[in-house]
Amino acid sequence: MRGLLLLVLAAWAPPAAAQQLLDWSPDEVRAVGRHGPWPPPPVRDPSNRVSGTPAGIALGEHLFNDPRLSADGLMSCATCHQAGRDWSDGRAKGFGTVDLDRRTPSLWNVGYAHWFGWDGAGDSLWAQTIRPIVDPREMGGNAQRVAGLLRHDKDLACGYQRAFGGKAGDDDELLLVDAAKAMAAFQATLVSPRTRFDAFRDALVAGDRAAVARYPLSEQRGLKLFVGSGNCDTCHFGPRFTNGEFGDVGIAFFVRPGEVDTGRLGGLARLAGSPFNLLGRYNDDVSGANAARTRHVQRLHANFGEFRVPSLRQVGRAAAYMHDGSIATLEDVVRHYSEVNPDRLHSDGTPLVRPLGLSPQERTDLVAFLRSLDADPPPRPAPPPLCP
Ligand code: HEC
Ligand code: HEC
Repeated sequence: MRGLLLLVLAAWAPPAAAQQLLDWSPDEVRAVGRHGPWPPPPVRDPSNRVSGTPAGIALGEHLFNDPRLSADGLMSCATCHQAGRDWSDGRAKGFGTVDLDRRTPSLWNVGYAHWFGWDGAGDSLWAQTIRPIVDPREMGGNAQRVAGLLRHDKDLACGYQRAFGGKAGDDDELLLVDAAKAMAAFQATLVSPRTRFDAFRDALVAGDRAAVARYPLSEQRGLKLFVGSGNCDTCHFGPRFTNGEFGDVGIAFFVRPGEVDTGRLGGLARLAGSPFNLLGRYNDDVSGANAARTRHVQRLHANFGEFRVPSLRQVGRAAAYMHDGSIATLEDVVRHYSEVNPDRLHSDGTPLVRPLGLSPQERTDLVAFLRSLDADPPPRPAPPPLCP
């Protein structure tokens, strides 16, 4: 009887969440609002003439999954960037024909970036796509092999003609670039789903108090820290939670004794030396306006040990963190920011990262907030045949 009464009372009580609302100042509301809208409007890449085209995207998805692009015929992009693992491989460090020194990044939302790779050696998504095809540590392929497939495989040849409006010609390098452009068009469609945070942000900006209060208190406190005293959103800025640039947060740069990963410093040298950068002849934007960043970027000593600021969408679903996978859990990442040793940072000027000295409660809140950036993606159907 008593149990029944309690049950009835519980059913009548207002939902506990209704009281869970912190005060949000106008400045904080603006700061939170800048992390949206989600999803952002689709972007077209002017350097890639098949960007955003259905036929380009379809060809790209087939190539992405095709192991024949690799030297041994066994490895495709999807070997390391798996749909079921948030387009990564579930490992702390990538593995190819040899173990790699860096972690395989997720490809979610990669179409919105302007520098690619942990060191920014790519200035377009298609240039970044060429790298693993020809890198002997990864797929070990070459232009000739890719061009041969586009010319002679019945389905791919047909898909090529549909996407590019003509038969595959006899310039191998051009066909390698075109294959990469189709794969880039496909990758740009990988947009992560809306999250609990997005529902909260929209409600907060709209002033919908009831909807705002559905976002748990701990996540609200963590978000306040993130946009406030934690200073996280100077770098993890905007709808993707990255400003797309580079930073040093004090991760060790020794790969093994005597060998360092110089990060952005080496990436800029590789960018300048690449025949596939936006200053080269494969940029489809004849005005060259989209090459401004590549033209003006300077190689500075401060770039040593800088790595690309990762997006934080779907971050709680990753296997390990940082460019080298050296931090195992989100709890440990937050502890890192709480206790970071300023002597490990080698950036000039005012450091953006300093030890925050967070309490255990604050660390829990920050992690809770970060986890609210995760959501299960809907299952993916198998790609339809290229030319039925
Ligand atoms: C052997 C595993 C492996 C294979 C195969 C592989 N990748 Fe990757 N991918 C990586 C690793 C590791 C990185 C990080 C490289 C770096 O920053 O130096 C990466 C980085 C990327 C990035 C940059 C993402 C970003 O956030 O900047 C893109 C895009 C990408 N890969 C697409 C592809 C495509 C397309 C293919 C197939 C043509 C492919 N990858 C094949 C492991 C792999
Ligand atoms: C100076 C710019 C900067 C600031 C400020 C900053 N970060 Fe980062 N963050 C980065 C960079 C750069 C990396 C990658 C570092 C690397 O790989 O060596 C990173 C990595 C991360 C990662 C791991 C993501 C992944 O996929 O590996 C998380 C989580 C994270 N930051 C959260 C935070 C939080 C929380 C704060 C505030 C307490 C914060 N960051 C402040 C630049 C910054």
